Order: sequence, then structure tokens, then C-alpha cells
Amino acid sequence: MTSVPARLPVDATTTSAWGSLTELSKNLQPDLRGWFAADPARAHRMSHQAADLHVDLSKNLLDDEVLASLLTLAEEVGLAERRDAMFAGEHINVTEDRAVLHTALRRPSDEPLTVDGQDIASDVADELAKVYAFAEKVRSGEWTGVTGEPVKTIVNIGIGGSDLGPVMAYEALEPYVAAGLECRFVSNIDPTDVAQKTADLDPTTTLFIVASKTFGTLETLTNARLARDWLWRSLVAAGAIEDSEDGRADAVAKHFVAVSTALDKVEAFGIDPENAFGFWDWVGGRYSVDSAIGTSLAVAIGPDAFAEFLGGFHAMDEHFRTTPFESNVPVLMGLLNVWYVNFRDAHTHAVLPYAQQLHRFPAYLQQLTMESNGKSVRWDGTPVTSDTGEVFWGEPGTNGQHAFYQLIHQGTRLIPADFIAVANPAYPLSDAVGDGGAVAAGADVHGLFLANFFAQTKALAFGKTADEVRAEGVAEDLVSAKVFSGNRPTTSILAPALTPAVLGQLVALYEHITFVQGVVWGIDSFDQWGVELGKKLALEIAPAVAGDEAALAAQDPSTAALIAKYRELRA
Ligand code: F6P
Repeated sequence: MTSVPARLPVDATTTSAWGSLTELSKNLQPDLRGWFAADPARAHRMSHQAADLHVDLSKNLLDDEVLASLLTLAEEVGLAERRDAMFAGEHINVTEDRAVLHTALRRPSDEPLTVDGQDIASDVADELAKVYAFAEKVRSGEWTGVTGEPVKTIVNIGIGGSDLGPVMAYEALEPYVAAGLECRFVSNIDPTDVAQKTADLDPTTTLFIVASKTFGTLETLTNARLARDWLWRSLVAAGAIEDSEDGRADAVAKHFVAVSTALDKVEAFGIDPENAFGFWDWVGGRYSVDSAIGTSLAVAIGPDAFAEFLGGFHAMDEHFRTTPFESNVPVLMGLLNVWYVNFRDAHTHAVLPYAQQLHRFPAYLQQLTMESNGKSVRWDGTPVTSDTGEVFWGEPGTNGQHAFYQLIHQGTRLIPADFIAVANPAYPLSDAVGDGGAVAAGADVHGLFLANFFAQTKALAFGKTADEVRAEGVAEDLVSAKVFSGNRPTTSILAPALTPAVLGQLVALYEHITFVQGVVWGIDSFDQWGVELGKKLALEIAPAVAGDEAALAAQDPSTAALIAKYRELRA
């Protein structure tokens, strides 16, 4: 029977491992230069393979004792038991009394899984088949708009998990997108978003996918109505439909589909539930890119590539589920994050993809990690006993190098950073001429790009001493400014290429890292109550913004004054 697990969270701070880590941290003098010199096999020992990902942890601030204590901590907080409970469909999302089964979305369809008395393996397979059939229809041109034209542009309307995953994956897998198809993503309720994304579109070849787990999200439903209005207006203007109820209904039927767990609300919006793809309450929004929420992606890259994407997730799930903790990459990376947050005073964590196509990956990870682990109470409602969720942020290299790396190299804060790269680029280019110096004629530009990756991780780890600076002939009064302390921790992740499978592996890797941290902290990484208050207040404040004096008077003085100022400024 799947029910709320009776077990209370272990207070990690009371474990013996926490005590050891506290002591070890006090005495630890990070010395990556010395550690590598004393142990040339360190890189080899601390590198692991997880599916197609080669992960080098050796440039982190840990020695064997720290590593051993982190692994003991995992045992003492019952990480394996909690992980197994998740995979088995127990209601580990305690505050919402739900199973947490995004891993079920990517299991081979012939492996049965019954949860809460329901055969969810066949539910998942059926829904996926529906998404794939729809994708094929659009891709083949069988699905047509009101004038019989095939679809050229898909506009996904969604926000949070109903946007960040699809747009991140679409950008990452752009080389796999079918020729002649384009996806756009509308998320912000700022009307600029929908206005700009529809401005140059031909309504007869545009298909909207309204993606919302709850189908009650203000931003998404407002944007969906704006898009529907735009569609009606522009189809009427083009003479493609009658300006009538039938004309409008036909337009919605042929130009709108939905993805949701709330099919009744989809219908109320005017979308035929036949044209809606479902998923389940055991898939959290930020864990849903591999559910029907990925429909735009499935259309763009096609069912075969989407299946590879899911296969990548599953490969990482299996690694997480079955690999001993000593070489289990999500476990090790999650524990390292705990080490940095709770014992080395790190407040943030950078994710730096050396792959332009992963430019939305940090933004995607922000929701995954921070909505999951930005919590102050544990899953039993008691206060947390240590710091939790660090701030995740990042930009693709090398752009970040010319912006914020200064602070990572020489600032006063410790910022652990993950560097991610692929060996084979989608667009291999060579510099025919070179620069006559370091860049040889015919140089592989991807090689140059990755030289930056290796250089940055090397500089962060090993730095540059004052003597080394002096040896370059630098004037004494400038030496200190040019010293790099080193001992700035990085993890290097290398994959063969940014294939759908590798992308799935990367996403699943970070899902499980997030999970590991949440277990150590004893929090429910699958609820998100912290986003509710602002949503409620926005609805209460909207009348005041629109001119309701009583609603304005009900606001606190600062908010009332700001609204009054806005009204004064608004033309
Ligand atoms: O406001 C946060 C949130 O609930 C996210 O967790 C979710 O991904 C997003 O809103 C969108 O929700 P929905 O898919 O229900 O529109």
C-alpha cells in the first residue's frame, strides 16, 4: 500500500557524520596543488561514468576523509531508503500527499508499475502513444489549420515547469528539429511576450499548445485567451474564418491543443479533450518535461528522438537507483553540494555549460533546484536544522568568462561551479585563416572553445601564487592584484555530444542531485507552497491597480503609494 511514510526526517545535524564533517571542515586546509602532487591518481580515482557522462570530481575541496563522512551521512539520513520509496511510488511528497514518480515517465513500457492500485505503466504508455500520434500528424502535414495548411509554427503557452523544460530542451536539441517547423514559447504575463511572439506569425499555419498542469495558472490562461483573440482576429482579417461562433470554434479546434492534468478545465476553455494530452498529479511541474508537457518538443524533434530523450533519463535513473554510493554520481554531487552549503558556507552554485545550445539550462535548473529545496521546514512541519537550498545560477561559457568569472576567481565567496561540455559540436567549424599566433590556420573552433573550459577549471583549482606572478616580471605593487588563490571548486562534466539521450541524462542527473540534498535536509523537495502567497495577493491587488479605491485603501502604505504612483504614471 502506498501511503505517507511514517518515518520522520532524520535530523542530519545530530548524526555522527555531521559531527565528523564539522570537525573535518574546521581542520581542512584546501590544497588542490598539494593533493594532486601527492596523489597523481586523484583525477582518475575521483572521476566516474554515469551513462554517457564522464564526471570529474577531483577539483573539489574534498579529501578521502570528507568523502567517507559524506557517504556515512547518506547512510545515516536513510538516503537509499528514501530513494527506493520514491521509485516505488510512496507518497514522499508529504505535504501534498502524493507519490513522486517522474521516473515512471521514462521506464520501458513493458516493466509494470502499480501505484495506488493503478497500473501507471500502461497509463504512461497510452498517453505517450497519443502524444506521438499527434506529433506524427503535425510533422506529416496531416494536421491542418482552418484553411487546410500544415503547421509551421508551434507556440507553447505555459510557465514554470510548463515552459522552462520544453524551451530549454527545444533550444538544446535544435539540430534535431524538423526542417520547416519552429517552436516559440510564451510564458510571461507581460503582454509584450505574446505580442512579440505572435507579431510575425501566419495564423493559418500556427498551432498553440496550452501547457498547464493545473489549467488554473493566471499567466498561462491569460496568455491563452490573448492568443485565442489574436488567432480569431487575424483569421477573420485574412478571410480564413467567418466572424461567427462556428468560425471561432473551428479555429480553436484546429489551432489549439492542451496539456494538463485537469481535462475538465481544458474543455471549459473550448479545447476538445480529444485534443488534450494528460499527465498525473505524481509528476511535479518542474519534473514534467518528459511527460506530455514535452509535446511541443516531441513534435519538433519527432517521436524517435523524444524516445531517445526519455531513454537518457532512464539510464541516469538506473545509475542512481543501482550504483553503489561511492561511484553514484548524483549521490556524490548532491553530497558535495551539502558539504559546500553546510560546512564551507557556500551560498550559491554556478552551472556553466560550455555548449551554446544549453543556454537555457541554468534557468531550467533554477526552478528545479530552488523551487524544490528553498524550504525552511522539514517534511514533518518542523523547522529545518541547517541551511538549505543554495542559489543556482549561470550562463554559457565563454560569455560568463567576460562577465562574472572575475568574482568566482578572486571574490571573497566560495562558489562551487559545474562545467558542462560536449566533445562533438553540432556545428563543427574551423578558422581557415587563424590569427597568425596562438590560433593556427584551420584551427577547430570547438577545440578553442573547450580550451577555455579546461583553462578555467585549471585556473580556479590551482590559481597563481605571488611568486609565479613576480616571476612574470610584474611590478611589486601589482602582485597582490594578480594573485589567484586557487582552491575554488569545480566539477567537470563531459559528454560525447548533445544528443537527446545525453540531454535526458543531464536533466535526470540534476533531478537526483536535488533529491539527495532534500533528503539530507529532511525537506519535501516536491511541494512549492512558497509561490502561493504572491499569486493570491496579485489577485487581491489587481482591482486596486485597475482603479478600485476601496481595494487601494486596503493596502499597506508602501504598496498603496506604489500603486498610486503607477496609476499616475500610466497613460
Ligand atoms: O507557481 C509555481 C508553479 O506551480 C510551478 O511549480 C509550475 O511549474 C508552474 O507554477 C506552472 O503551473 P501549471 O503547469 O499548473 O500552469
